[in-house]
Amino acid sequence: MADLIDHRFYGRRKGRRMRVRQKQDFNQLLPKFSFNLPESSRCNPKLFFSRPTKDIWLEIGFGYGEHLAVLAEYNPDIGFIGCEVFENGIGHLLSAIAEKNIENIRIFPQPAQPLLQRLPDQSIGRIFLLFPDPWPKKRHARRRFVQPETIELLGRILKDGGELRMASDDPGLITWITEHMMRSQDFRWLAGGADDWLTRPADWPLSRYEEKAINKGIQPVYWRFERLCRQK
Ligand SMILES: C[S@@+](CC[C@H](N)C(=O)[O-])C[C@H]1O[C@@H](n2cnc3c(N)ncnc32)[C@H](O)[C@@H]1O
Repeated sequence: MADLIDHRFYGRRKGRRMRVRQKQDFNQLLPKFSFNLPESSRCNPKLFFSRPTKDIWLEIGFGYGEHLAVLAEYNPDIGFIGCEVFENGIGHLLSAIAEKNIENIRIFPQPAQPLLQRLPDQSIGRIFLLFPDPWPKKRHARRRFVQPETIELLGRILKDGGELRMASDDPGLITWITEHMMRSQDFRWLAGGADDWLTRPADWPLSRYEEKAINKGIQPVYWRFERLCRQK
């Protein structure tokens, strides 16, 4: 199933021209805080970090990185991997890393799918996929990040009991994600009650797209799924 993964990236790679300071941060800091995939088939994510890490958490499509930067600051013993392709967003996160002296983030500045395929089984404790592109047209549905194959990959790399957190404000995508996740045998939805998915947990920092949705009066939904324990 994982071989059916679509490696193409359909979104924006560049936005407005970066400010001089941002461009400088981008050029100087990206080599220090990013990594490429090694030649061998599987990579050990703990080796991307200069200090020992208690666990590795992964954010896919971090946008401008607000959520990731806050989490990294509050969890210094966790190693964070952030995947993003949009250069202005990467530049913004690098500026935050420099400003706040954040040591525990590593950036994969490419589409996340090849990284997911190369991460070992049960190597990640928590995964975040916040406000992924909705691709609302029916003919673009295959461009959505959430597909049966990516759910399978996320399930493979997550540890038993690990958590997959997702959010969206797009009605079509909310239905799509809910239906696809309910079909997976690997995950259990951690909703405590009917309104549970309308409230962002306290340990879940705000992201830029979430803020935009709220400012427009749109109610986002928040999912927390637990990776079920594998049969021994
Ligand atoms: C709608 S934005 C949301 C950004 C951020 N998560 C937030 O909540 O503010 C979706 C982001 O996902 C990124 N993205 C889309 N497909 C991706 C992929 N395959 N790998 C990594 N990032 C991806 C896009 O570049 C874009 O920045």
